[in-house]
Amino acid sequence: MNKLDTALVSASLREAGFGLTDTVKDADAVVINTCSVREHAEARVLSHLGHLKHLKKHRPGVVVAVVGCMAQRLGEELLAHDAVNIVCGPIQIPKIAELITDALAVNGKELAVTEKIRSKAGSQSDSLERFESVFSGDGEGRSVPGQAFVRVMRGCNNFCTYCIVPYVRGPEVCRPPEAILDQVKHLADQGVKQVTLLGQTVNAYQYESGGKVRSLADLLHMTADVPGIEWVRFVTSYPDPAFFDDILQAMVDSPRICNYLHMPAQSGSDRILAAMNRHYTASAYLDLLARAREVVPEIAVAGDFIVGFPGEADEDFEATVDLVRKAQYRNCFIFKYSPRPGTTADQRHADTVSDEVKQHRNVALLAVQEEISGQLSQAFLGRTVKVLVEGLSKKAHVNATDEADHPQLVGRTSTDYIVVFNGPISLAGQFADVTIDDVSPLTLFGKLIG
Ligand code: 5AD
Ligand code: SF4
Repeated sequence: MNKLDTALVSASLREAGFGLTDTVKDADAVVINTCSVREHAEARVLSHLGHLKHLKKHRPGVVVAVVGCMAQRLGEELLAHDAVNIVCGPIQIPKIAELITDALAVNGKELAVTEKIRSKAGSQSDSLERFESVFSGDGEGRSVPGQAFVRVMRGCNNFCTYCIVPYVRGPEVCRPPEAILDQVKHLADQGVKQVTLLGQTVNAYQYESGGKVRSLADLLHMTADVPGIEWVRFVTSYPDPAFFDDILQAMVDSPRICNYLHMPAQSGSDRILAAMNRHYTASAYLDLLARAREVVPEIAVAGDFIVGFPGEADEDFEATVDLVRKAQYRNCFIFKYSPRPGTTADQRHADTVSDEVKQHRNVALLAVQEEISGQLSQAFLGRTVKVLVEGLSKKAHVNATDEADHPQLVGRTSTDYIVVFNGPISLAGQFADVTIDDVSPLTLFGKLIG
């Protein structure tokens, strides 16, 4: 979600006549896109602002804009920071180019956040809708060639007790399927081969128009049928049996709908799940996974977990370990609980689990997952997989090229396995076949064929 917002900001600034600089030193304006999900992400923004305050001592004309969730959350408080000129919430992002242009002219301060975000967000969706469809087609804003994110819904109505998102992104609003489809066609015309449909609870997508109700499964079919689009993904799914079978069936029916499910469990303890206001039990969650594997045997599943939620005892954590062992994830994202001001969990409970215990549980859970990921990766030895090539691998600059002087590239399979191999950089944004000859828990290594 955050990467998409960054791409939209940079595309709209380019359209307004701005260019990107390589370093902050050369910039007339600096935009920081922010995340409020955990305190750590916010702390890093404050540290960047500290550096910018220093920079502005020498160059007072530089305009600094803070956009996104932290801007929405802190508003005036952030505007009071010496380094900050503009504070712009996620729903106000369509105004960013104008705000920066004005601030450059007068070197002023400007606050653009949505008051009463829970009631206003829906009514503002018209300008947001136009902004989204115009700027998502801008190829230069995309960090990975051939791939694009498409937001299908904004906001969230779930109010998991630990989570800040419903407070800073507002209520759930689904975009019209026609607008989404037009956008995907436009992206395909520009050479995009993979689209990822985005929503906080994307499986709950529903839109009624002309007496018809469209679901995520309908959207998946519609986008997969767009000529030029080869792979369609969707994130993130809430563990909910509603529509689940339709989504699995869509994967069976279309080879272009990726067999990949990102479905956070957050905990394996029913007691903690209830305290988190997650509407399922560990066994109901595992039932969903079993159904998914029955219908789509190849499916790769990823999950999110929070360790150290207030009151999480050793038994609760053991239940989480047990769930992770049973779930057989291809990959897990594990986070230490971070109290977020204004959320129910923060108001009701003290942050009772010490950072030491959180850290210990984080490392222990990662080790369990690494063992599972390692076993799942083994199955790929000797197999040939199709990957969408992203570009140079992170280690390309230190690793030797192969006999043909090709650098090390990285790509992903439709099930989101990372694959590293040598090949020509012209493959970025294209599909390639790679035969796997070595594996590590999170990465497959191989040779390009053909
Ligand atoms: N503390 C730690 N992790 C959190 N997440 C959301 N809110 C918090 C929080 N307060 C995690 C959840 C979610 C992911 C995006 O971030 O696991 O799925
Ligand atoms: Fe946050 Fe829960 Fe909504 Fe996900 S579903 S964005 S965790 S409130």
